[in-house]
Amino acid sequence: MPPVPPPSLPILQVAGVSVRIEAKAILTDIHFAVASGQVCALIGENGAGKTTLLRSILGVQSLQSGTIQILGQPATRQLHRLGYVPQKISFDPDLPLRTRDLVDLGIPRPFWRWRPPDPHAVAEAIHAVDGEGFANQRVGRLSGGQQQRAVIAHALARKPKLLLLDEPLANLDFASANHLVQLLGRLAKEQGISIVVTAHDMNPLLPILDQLVYLVGGRAATGSVAEVVRTEVLTKLYGYPVEVLQHHGRLLVLPENPRQGLEIPCYAHDHD
Ligand SMILES: Nc1ncnc2c1ncn2[C@@H]1O[C@H](COP(=O)(O)OP(=O)(O)OP(=O)(O)O)[C@@H](O)[C@H]1O
Ligand SMILES: [Mg+2]
Repeated sequence: MPPVPPPSLPILQVAGVSVRIEAKAILTDIHFAVASGQVCALIGENGAGKTTLLRSILGVQSLQSGTIQILGQPATRQLHRLGYVPQKISFDPDLPLRTRDLVDLGIPRPFWRWRPPDPHAVAEAIHAVDGEGFANQRVGRLSGGQQQRAVIAHALARKPKLLLLDEPLANLDFASANHLVQLLGRLAKEQGISIVVTAHDMNPLLPILDQLVYLVGGRAATGSVAEVVRTEVLTKLYGYPVEVLQHHGRLLVLPENPRQGLEIPCYAHDHD
């Protein structure tokens, strides 16, 4: 029997993580912890290091320094507790694979012994993403939002304690993104699943976020949204003056000098 962790142990603990790839510093001294049922967003522009950080948590990216633990153990010993939804995934429309087949493939099985499909576990995962309406449709023929939910159901089929999602909101329209954000919030609060989700724009995630890891050039500011998304904190992180504005409940990060706007994104896409 594996040791039962004490209740206060975070699900995920990232301590002093630095990553170099081909002599280039990609991540520098990243620290954060995610407790049971918390939602944590990794926010940053293209190339900020979000996917590299997720790959480090998955144990497929080697670290230059630091440690990553899942329930107090190295990630490689806790893979069965991890669900992962990658950034790039595409299905051919003619692939003869229904949503329920994809979800069944997510159930861990010993490779040396055939096991029949597990309709109960499949139905449970499909229900968790409100996917009953497309359970029998081919995954390659689903809409973008439905496909994201199908892939999340695949990841949930192994009953993870920690769910990692790489840009699940990219390419979704406003309504589908909102639906997905509410779904992630329910998974965290009702099922106690810890969630780490990457995005360029923090705004759609604000209603469910417990904490933020805001990455700029591989360095991070971490904490609650109120602690991190502040003019003084982000000015220090960017290395030049930025201003944080609120507009209709959305947060905008703007350079104080508009000429620098070419170099940084404004983390708000106004849907008003
Ligand atoms: N295998 C690799 N070989 C060389 N460079 C890499 C490799 N993987 C990542 N990088 C570099 O690391 C940096 C961070 O990449 P990463 O994919 O983590 O960024 P990201 O924040 O996920 O970006 P995006 O928003 O575009 O997905 C980039 O400069 C990228 O070119
Ligand atoms: Mg990425």
